Amino acid sequence: MAQLDRVIEDRLSSEVPLVSQIAHYIISAGGKRLRPALLLLVSGALGHQDPRRHLLAAVVEFIHTATLLHDDVVDESTLRRGRATANESFGNAASVLVGDFVYSRAFQMMVDVGDMRIMATLADTTNVIAEGEVLQLMNMHDASLSKADYLRVIRSKTAQLFEASARLAAMLNQSSETTEAACATYGQALGTAFQIVDDVLDYAGDSKDLGKNLGDDLREGKVTLPVICTLQRAGPDDAAVITQAIEKGDQSELPRIINLIQGSGGLQEAQEAAHQEALRAIEAIKDFPDNAYTDALRGLAQSLVVRRN
Ligand code: IPE
Ligand code: IPE
Ligand code: MG
Ligand code: MG
Repeated sequence: MAQLDRVIEDRLSSEVPLVSQIAHYIISAGGKRLRPALLLLVSGALGHQDPRRHLLAAVVEFIHTATLLHDDVVDESTLRRGRATANESFGNAASVLVGDFVYSRAFQMMVDVGDMRIMATLADTTNVIAEGEVLQLMNMHDASLSKADYLRVIRSKTAQLFEASARLAAMLNQSSETTEAACATYGQALGTAFQIVDDVLDYAGDSKDLGKNLGDDLREGKVTLPVICTLQRAGPDDAAVITQAIEKGDQSELPRIINLIQGSGGLQEAQEAAHQEALRAIEAIKDFPDNAYTDALRGLAQSLVVRRN
């Protein structure tokens, strides 16, 4: 991870001061560096430590960072990684444009990796993430959203990059097709669990731990799994209040709705769905070599489900 940080620092430079300033602003705030960690852990588990792995890990983190710069504009978020978002500090235009810079820098670095299959995977991944964000935009204020609709969005906007991170490590390792597929399943299940928990924490987390504001999803009319599960359990009066808030953006009943989500069992049901995805991830790597990295991958799946940040 220290080597990864050196690559990130090295590749973030620009002669345009505002680009450097904003790029460093968001990157130096930290973040969990989960996706690069995933790539490096899978690489270790498979045993072949290709010298290009840190460069590729930085590519994945840059793509993630670019999506956050754009996502916070779209979501009008004001807090990220415990500080004001880039859009809050520097404005929407600068955030979008520097997001583009970080995206395209990732593509320059990919060319340095010099592997057409890896490039194809990352090009497809970036494209699917964008589709996921647009799909989510289309689903805003739709109280009839099903669990399948929700899963389709989070598989695209979040799980896809986890899947790619794990798969890329297998590609660097020139692993068999079976191993590559196992990595992809692990990453996809882990990413799905991760986003479900993120959506639970939006109702039940602590803003200080998370470094983000809570309650944003409902305020925006974004329907996530805790809401879908709560709507299925609610009586007609409660369901009407929730539907009204989602469809009309009516915020007057927000405290009542948050109480409903927390007290109806809907939150626990969503948490249990995340737990099942984590188990699916662990199952996918059951034939991995028995080493400390594989242990860490199992531990990662377990700890992401109970995370607070
Ligand atoms: C935030 O991802 C976006 C989601 C997919 C929920 P992370 O929670 O991994 O963000 P950082 O990098 O740690 O800040
Ligand atoms: C994160 O989605 C952005 C992407 C995965 C592209 P969210 O909007 O759900 O995550 P936060 O809450 O802003 O981190
Ligand atoms: Mg967001
Ligand atoms: Mg969120």
